[in-house]
Amino acid sequence: MTADEAVSATEEHPGQPGDPCVMVIFGAAGDLTKRKLIPALYNLAKSNLLSREFALVGLARAAMTTEEFRRKLSQDMQEFATEQVDPGLWEWLVQRLYYLPGNFSDPAAYQELRTLLDKVDTDHGTRGNYFSYLATSPGYFAEIVRHLGETGLAREENGRWRRVIIEKPFGRDLDSARALNREISQILSESQLYRIDHYLGKETVQNILVFRFANGIFEPIWNRRYVDHVQITVAETVGVEQRGGYYEEAGTLRDMVPNHISQLITLTAMEPPISFEANAVRDEQAKILRAIQPLTPEEVLIRAVRGQYGEGMIEGKRVPGYRAEPKVAPDSTTETFVALKLSIDNWRWADVPFYLRTGKRLPSRVTEIAIQFKRAPLILFRKTPVDRLTPNRLVLHIQPDEGISLRFGAKVPGPVVRLGSVDMAFQYKDYFGTKPSTGYERLLYDCMTGDATLFQRADMVEAGWSVVAPILDVWKALPPRSFPNYAAGSWGPKEADELLERDGRQWRRSDK
Ligand code: BG6
Repeated sequence: MTADEAVSATEEHPGQPGDPCVMVIFGAAGDLTKRKLIPALYNLAKSNLLSREFALVGLARAAMTTEEFRRKLSQDMQEFATEQVDPGLWEWLVQRLYYLPGNFSDPAAYQELRTLLDKVDTDHGTRGNYFSYLATSPGYFAEIVRHLGETGLAREENGRWRRVIIEKPFGRDLDSARALNREISQILSESQLYRIDHYLGKETVQNILVFRFANGIFEPIWNRRYVDHVQITVAETVGVEQRGGYYEEAGTLRDMVPNHISQLITLTAMEPPISFEANAVRDEQAKILRAIQPLTPEEVLIRAVRGQYGEGMIEGKRVPGYRAEPKVAPDSTTETFVALKLSIDNWRWADVPFYLRTGKRLPSRVTEIAIQFKRAPLILFRKTPVDRLTPNRLVLHIQPDEGISLRFGAKVPGPVVRLGSVDMAFQYKDYFGTKPSTGYERLLYDCMTGDATLFQRADMVEAGWSVVAPILDVWKALPPRSFPNYAAGSWGPKEADELLERDGRQWRRSDK
């Protein structure tokens, strides 16, 4: 099949441009703006998905003029654009970028912002539609929203919309997430709020729903009758790099599980929604989060494994242990690895364990969901080593080699019956090529068109925290005694292997 044949008729409707609007970035001098947001806006413009009536105001503490901001981003684009920049198109975009220096806690900054927005709105015909992107440290989220409210910048009237995108981490535990939701909801209605999780910007994550619900053949076996267990791996080779300060406060459990990994679980496990309308999809995701059985303190000791990397070898190079990283305490007890066994208490998944593992400084960068099916009910090939045959396994490869593969048994050619395992594999790049993207295009576009399907509702964020709450409590009460307990470049502490071995199972080798 050619790539053209593979693309379905939906391609004939590439989408309308987003609404006319101004995007306001709080924290615009930071990394996210130059690495992801500006290249994503450029890509949207290139695909004709950005309104011609668009403008952007960046706000941050750094002293800079609009001219300097434009020059800086023009330079940054040379490094971070995902493809060759078309000078004409970039010039069009750059003329729509403005900068305002200001302190997020200073009411005067919001008055200035309002004055600038009035002018930009008139100059660019953006119809009073504004969305703010809070790319600041989380301590400012509530304060910025409050100021937006006080300055009238959050009020929707006369058909104009006002929206706010909030980055993670949304709270640092259940109580703080609840408090933040309460505070923000005094100013913004839920429909104005877009809690972002960049995992949902990944094509392969979005494809989980298409794979499950646009095909008739998988859903009938997607349940406890046929599935033995599910393994989710989110492995990184990087350490904490320059983020030691943040990481010491967060740790891997908070950093990855209530957000990114919860997305992967809910999309894998949810029931078919009644439509693809935002709340219909999010209702089903929320049900899964609520169905995850909370671990008792005793279960935490058995089903939750934590680790911290010591020094070791990554890709042939010696790397330091976590405790020797910048801004990390020499006796730090922060975890850099987590493995969990969770159960989803519902009709579809009862008794099907979901094993998760995620960590820094693991041997390869890989994110994948492996659905392992039960063995054939009857062993017909007794004289062969069939009992050692690998069971059928469907793997959704999220990154870096995006695709889907199915492993099954096949007869090895020859007069003696011998069985081998083979893979039927689909790779995105073979069919669709690799379209350069930052992963933020769809999310920004959805916010500009008012589609919140891929964003987190208040109840989902809180349910995500509820899943990890008992683990946070037990781990806080019982500091780890054996850190560091895995070498950089290994697959985590031995307890992570034991977690599966106790159940007669093994982690899939994800590095092949
Ligand atoms: C971020 C975490 O949200 O996600 C990081 O804070 C992590 O610690 C990153 O490295 C992983 O994202 P990706 O897209 O590289 O898998």
